[in-house]
Amino acid sequence: MTDFGTRLLEWYHNNYRSLPWRQTTDPYKIWISEIILQQTRVAQGMDYYHRFIDNFPNVQSLAAAKEDQVLRLWQGLGYYSRARNLHYAAKTIVEKHNAKFPNTYKEILQLKGVGPYTAAAIASFAFKLPYAVLDGNVYRFLARLKGIDTPIDSNEGKKRFTELANVLLNKKDPAHHNQAMMEMGAIICKAQSPECDQCPFQSNCAAFQTGQINFLPVKSKK
Ligand code: ADE
Repeated sequence: MTDFGTRLLEWYHNNYRSLPWRQTTDPYKIWISEIILQQTRVAQGMDYYHRFIDNFPNVQSLAAAKEDQVLRLWQGLGYYSRARNLHYAAKTIVEKHNAKFPNTYKEILQLKGVGPYTAAAIASFAFKLPYAVLDGNVYRFLARLKGIDTPIDSNEGKKRFTELANVLLNKKDPAHHNQAMMEMGAIICKAQSPECDQCPFQSNCAAFQTGQINFLPVKSKK
């Protein structure tokens, strides 16, 4: 087949949703959007994103805000530790990094509230660094595409999927590649009623070929 990454980007180019955080390379705005989207759907997160950025357009303004002002803007989103961590990390960026958003994966990962997914998202979207993102959408897409039944929430699964995602990553354009991987999972390779007939990888998809679509990905029983 045509190189995976090339076909993926071609599909993305023709099918992506135009979302506000996809129109910027400002690490601050990307960070805010990713924290909001951690536990919130795009449709609900959109208004909150705009209001947050309108009120705190940069890291200095967020760092200088009172905590109750930050929490008020978060009202209704839930998981309020996200807002407290954002505020705390903004102060760290101002104090430790001279108000300049850190531009290495390692430093980004050290910010409060930022885990491997969010660090890879900021590093790739804002700084074009070659780190593959893995969120629920990407795990599902990869598990089906390659027919992998290792539980995605096990240590072995995390390691295996992370390695695979980084092998597939288009190192020349990690930003669009990562957005495209997530978009495949969000609009084609959906958890419920996936759109296999619209999928550019149908003929290469292990799960489609073997009838395993509804059985992948696997989560370990807790
Ligand atoms: N969910 C998490 N991050 C996202 C992004 N950058 N675009 C769309 N949905 C997302």
